[in-house]
Amino acid sequence: MDISVFATTLSTLPQDDDHPYRTGPWRPQTREFDAENLDVEGELPRDLSGVYLRNTENPVHPALVNYHPFDGDGMVHMTMFRDGQATYRNRFVKTDGFRAEQAAGGPLWAGIAESPARSIRRDGWGARGLMKDASSTDVVVHAGVAVTSFWQCGDLYRLDPMTLDELGKESWGGAYPSDVGVSAHTKVDEHTGELLFFNYSTKAPFLHYGVVDAARRLVHYVPIDIPGARLPHDMTFTENFAILNDLPLFWDPDLIKQGHYVSRLHRELPSRLGVIPRRGDSASITWFDFDPTYVLHWTNAWEDGDDIVVEGFFQGCPEPKDSSAHGPSSRMFRFLAQDVLQTRLHRWRMNLATGSVKEEDLTATCSEFGVINAMFAGRPSRYVYAATNRPGWFLFDGFVKHDTQTGSEVRVELNEGVYCSEIGVAPKVGKRSEDDVYLVTYTVDMNRDRSDCVVYDGADIAAGPVATVRLPERLSSGTHSCWAQGSSLAGW
Ligand SMILES: [Fe+2]
Repeated sequence: MDISVFATTLSTLPQDDDHPYRTGPWRPQTREFDAENLDVEGELPRDLSGVYLRNTENPVHPALVNYHPFDGDGMVHMTMFRDGQATYRNRFVKTDGFRAEQAAGGPLWAGIAESPARSIRRDGWGARGLMKDASSTDVVVHAGVAVTSFWQCGDLYRLDPMTLDELGKESWGGAYPSDVGVSAHTKVDEHTGELLFFNYSTKAPFLHYGVVDAARRLVHYVPIDIPGARLPHDMTFTENFAILNDLPLFWDPDLIKQGHYVSRLHRELPSRLGVIPRRGDSASITWFDFDPTYVLHWTNAWEDGDDIVVEGFFQGCPEPKDSSAHGPSSRMFRFLAQDVLQTRLHRWRMNLATGSVKEEDLTATCSEFGVINAMFAGRPSRYVYAATNRPGWFLFDGFVKHDTQTGSEVRVELNEGVYCSEIGVAPKVGKRSEDDVYLVTYTVDMNRDRSDCVVYDGADIAAGPVATVRLPERLSSGTHSCWAQGSSLAGW
């Protein structure tokens, strides 16, 4: 293993930190590594060819008052697989906010669990405003380049997907940015090369939807009429439509007027899914009402005759009254535990001709952070690979392969004290069927104080990993990841 430290970043976190999401499996890192000739247990398949990228909330300063794990600075971890070899790098996403706090030597903005009035800087980002844009939530690859994003809306940051070199902020040829920014969960259609996106705001228009073409030109950007400020986190799409949402969990509008941002489930309101032609406007949306819930992540959508089928994670308990006995007790951490929220893979079906709707749970198993083979995004798909959680915690203690046609499940349970990350689904080179994939994830092993990049054969995950790649140091847990096939990358 050839390891070099690219840089070490100033951290002002306390030495005796006891925050549950800045210690243990969430202990942040300060070093950025370049590592080659990584040690491998097992054998890396030759038809695994591309990069696995994962973003991370990796704070380097304490919060002004209350740290929430979604506030941490972005750090992208990249493992590249090529010719049976693996290389690894990690880099901070050096956002404007990150640089300002590095220069100041401490925090400048209030996080999501703090009053914006506390922010030292009187500018900022986010739907709420006065937040730091950490670009720490999501990462996708569009037009051959990695793009990171922030769940509360911010700038998009471009990184070379193989070197993680900074390529600057995305402006789509100068057509962006807007003052609202872009939400996490930009969606790439690998068949058309388009990127679909949305943003949201507490001021009208409360929602925008946009399309960027394969040449990174902003070709569509429209305001969407919804009744008030909402908290959409994700969107999905079919071949001809995008699916937007208006869900009944959102900031209390009366409290917003007083400068407080407190989310509440408005049980009297339905969950609404909006079906919009990919280049449509607000007038061309058809809205459908469903049972009230909150959906953090959709897994896929497709057309079935006049039906639009959408799959994602229904929350049985979107506004938990009690904390788990197994996890940290603070109210804000309840919303991070899948077992507390009762997140279940669910199917919503709506008919564009008749307006009829149907919805059902696909399983009784709690899982979330589900991913599919991206070549099937927007098309009928069968397999979802989703994380299971350590009860009470935002930690993934394994994953489950859901067969949404038969309802069968195969579960991988990691050893106690070992956690994985959102799965990267890597199609085997030259194979086209949905299940001809490898599954890639990072593990945090608290027993051995190490991390690995682990590869499973998607057709037989119960057989255990086909290869385990040792990483330079134990990573922090993180959130979203993506896989990019080498052949799709500029300069591969
Ligand atoms: Fe997300």
